[in-house]
Amino acid sequence: MTLTCIILAAGKGTRMKSALPKPMHTIAGRPMIAHSLAAAQALKPDKLLVLVGPDMAMMSDYVAAHAQTAIQAEAKGTGHAVQCAVEALGPLSGDVLVLFGDTPLVTADTLRKLIERRKAGDNPAVVVSGMRPPSPTGYGRLLVEGGTLFGIVEEREASEAQRAIDLCNGGIMLFDGQLLSKLLAGLNNNNAKGEYYLTDVISIARQTGHACAFVEIPFEEVMGVNSRAEQAAVELVMQKRLRAAAMAAGVTMIDPDSIYLSWDTQFRQDVTIDPNVFFGPGVHVADDVQIRSFSHLEGVTIDTGAIIGPFARLRPGSEIGAGVHIGNFVEIKQTQVAQGAKINHLSYIGDASVGAHANIGAGTITCNYDGFTKSRTDIGAGAFIGSNTALVAPVKIGAQALVGAGSVITSDVPADALALERSPQKVAPEHGMATRRKQRQ
Ligand code: UD1
Ligand code: MG
Repeated sequence: MTLTCIILAAGKGTRMKSALPKPMHTIAGRPMIAHSLAAAQALKPDKLLVLVGPDMAMMSDYVAAHAQTAIQAEAKGTGHAVQCAVEALGPLSGDVLVLFGDTPLVTADTLRKLIERRKAGDNPAVVVSGMRPPSPTGYGRLLVEGGTLFGIVEEREASEAQRAIDLCNGGIMLFDGQLLSKLLAGLNNNNAKGEYYLTDVISIARQTGHACAFVEIPFEEVMGVNSRAEQAAVELVMQKRLRAAAMAAGVTMIDPDSIYLSWDTQFRQDVTIDPNVFFGPGVHVADDVQIRSFSHLEGVTIDTGAIIGPFARLRPGSEIGAGVHIGNFVEIKQTQVAQGAKINHLSYIGDASVGAHANIGAGTITCNYDGFTKSRTDIGAGAFIGSNTALVAPVKIGAQALVGAGSVITSDVPADALALERSPQKVAPEHGMATRRKQRQ
């Protein structure tokens, strides 16, 4: 049986009040559309199409690497949207799964349940996802009798009695590909919204003698995002999932609710994370790493036994070696810090490499930008950089070299050398000078 997945993402998303197409807003560090795409891709579909609106070139470009796209020139409803997708796809057979680009919590397992249901004895032409939200207001209601689905009524058309139904349409639907065009051809827009409702295909299918079915799925998986407040609610659900998965994989979180993860954060075992830590995309953490409070990490690989923070900022392109210590108020960018090195206080190390067991003193700054170009700083293994040192890139500090505190280093320091750049200290020699100066005032 072939599988075609269609993701509807052409709606305007007006309530987001944003210049960005709604499905490009992120949940756990990646656009919502990418979450829907990942759920669909896990089913290994033969065809995958994302339906976008006009003026959504940015989203089309983003999606292009993963799926075919088609444009719905005017948003005339979910039924019209599927019609546009079907026209772009050409003749269909097998299963056709329709999902939304603004419901990023759906899982592949749930989608598989719909596919399983269509294979069952009565061979339904349509399988609908049913769910029971805390409040059904605004959703389409499933009209079920004796366990059989015979229609969906949208909120605006529902009678008082139908509004009391708490079994709602989750939005995800699976169709018999061969029948889909015929069913869609029967739609009209004679309704309160003047839209072509995809939900009307149920009664059309029933009228033409085809069975329809529903599968009840958790409400959480079809929570949609229409506003920033709903985006935050969905983010919370996703964070809870990610935290639970991390703890199940052997991560200790002292206060899980204060730790924010990205969809792709990876942990090995026995990692400990103190409260209030933020993981942006692309962070990989090896065994026995400790991450202390108020650290912000993105695009960084951290090797076994490293200690990060508190108050550390690790920026993309960085690799932190085994047993490295990165302390408070240290910012690291595009830098490889080799095993056992220590950068413990108040430093900026960017576009650099730090050799194994080097010690970077408090307040060391790599001056990597001259206003025009970024240049590199290479610090050799075992080097010792004294406190309050400016390393003006491009510059190399050799292995085991020693740089005196307060130096502004502008040329390379050979291995095992001592470099000091500091004006000589003046001391008024007589005893009592300090007291006499005070008395003068
Ligand atoms: C839809 C269902 C409703 C269900 C609810 C679940 C219909 C008529 N109603 O209502 O039964 O309970 O979802 O959340 O289907 N879209 C387009 N083009 C359009 C219109 C919509 O691509 O012309 C896309 C939107 O971008 C969105 C999805 O389809 O991703 C759903 O559209 P939306 O307007 O949110 O439908 P609801 O009114 O919520
Ligand atoms: Mg909606």
